[in-house]
Amino acid sequence: MTLGSPRDASGRLVAGRTAYMILHNTSEVATPDPEGRRVLRYPRGAVVFQDGRVLEVGSAAELSARHRDARPLNANGHLVTPGLVDCHTHMIFAGHRALELQRRLRGEDYAAIAAAGGGIRATATATLDEMENRPDALEKRLASRLERWRANGCTTVEVKSGYALTPSGEESLLERIRGAAQRVPVRLHRTALLLHALPEPYQDRREEFLDELCRSTLPSIRDRDLATAVDVFCDPVAFSLEECRRVLERARGLGLAIKLHADQLSRSGGAELAAELGARSADHLESATEEDWRALGESGTVGVLLPAAALTLRQSLPEAGMLRRAGARVAIATDFNPGTSPAQSLLECAALASRLCGFDAEEALLAITWNAARALGAESEVGHLTPGACGDAVIWECETLEELPYWLPAVRPDCVFIRGADLALPAVERRVWP
Ligand code: NIG
Ligand code: FE
Repeated sequence: MTLGSPRDASGRLVAGRTAYMILHNTSEVATPDPEGRRVLRYPRGAVVFQDGRVLEVGSAAELSARHRDARPLNANGHLVTPGLVDCHTHMIFAGHRALELQRRLRGEDYAAIAAAGGGIRATATATLDEMENRPDALEKRLASRLERWRANGCTTVEVKSGYALTPSGEESLLERIRGAAQRVPVRLHRTALLLHALPEPYQDRREEFLDELCRSTLPSIRDRDLATAVDVFCDPVAFSLEECRRVLERARGLGLAIKLHADQLSRSGGAELAAELGARSADHLESATEEDWRALGESGTVGVLLPAAALTLRQSLPEAGMLRRAGARVAIATDFNPGTSPAQSLLECAALASRLCGFDAEEALLAITWNAARALGAESEVGHLTPGACGDAVIWECETLEELPYWLPAVRPDCVFIRGADLALPAVERRVWP
């Protein structure tokens, strides 16, 4: 079918040569079904892209016969999946906290280091300093990090603000995230993480801080289209359940999507609040119970596991058997941040979670594609290769789906397609730290 493909006077395809393409000679194409219930596997399958979207997926023999005019692209006998979705990152920050990890490994705890001026506030100081003195640096570094994510197979990435802390600083960070998005082909979802740590100037004015967020920051974020979702860190070391509820209800009332860092350091009711408010996702959940997971399942809230953060804080992750019983959708994300998760490969995070929780390869794929897309409200567009979905796909340097969570370091993409286009990949060995 070549409907709409432009042709020259002699009837040959012109612009359509790149817009209309068949990816063939795969070992298999593995993709979630449109409802994200299971993984469909097409041995020696093919995918046809047209005008940036998936036109068809199925057996190569059949599709090749039907799409003779499509530009052929040889997958060289390798595995093809949808582009991966990293639904939880804090990718915009300056500096690092490697020394803090050493202190924690010697026994100091996360909350004590934070209370003594380290932790989130230390990164906020470095980030604000950079924002003031090297205006372009944050944006450029974020763009190169996003390129690294693309080279690792991610075509959709969520980026949270959260390391400026003050209301105006958070708005500036969101502007810079938007700026970085112009520099790279990756699809970006911007989230305003507004309750992360109480900013210094508001130390004795907690209520005023919350008032300002609700009165002016949230409406301004919505009116200026700076973010599509709002996040909070719901934990005794950060913000209480009631403080989180207030900000999230206001955000929801303005039409913004909501999500929570929930039940990470202790079980403080975050997952229940997420379920009650109909949040898109509840993330972390290291301290959540089976009952919490059931509540998430009933409300359709995705539970997002962040295995690199759990490892770094030496916490355990839930068992796959319990998660299956509870019936909630599970996503896996990097949580990339300088404090708890300096993890730069989503696939490696999935490989870790597979081993630590007991996920099979199909569950792991769902967790970093369809379910992760759902955590962003983007499951009709990305996370699967269903006709009509975005033409975002990866050819991997391996042959079977089971190899994706198997190799460590993780297998790498041969090619990453975004909008049906195969753009050159950057060398990921390039240094991205400051
Ligand atoms: O997702 N838990 C809150 N936020 C981050 C950690 C932030 C930091 O330590 O810098 C997280 O783990
Ligand atoms: Fe996080």
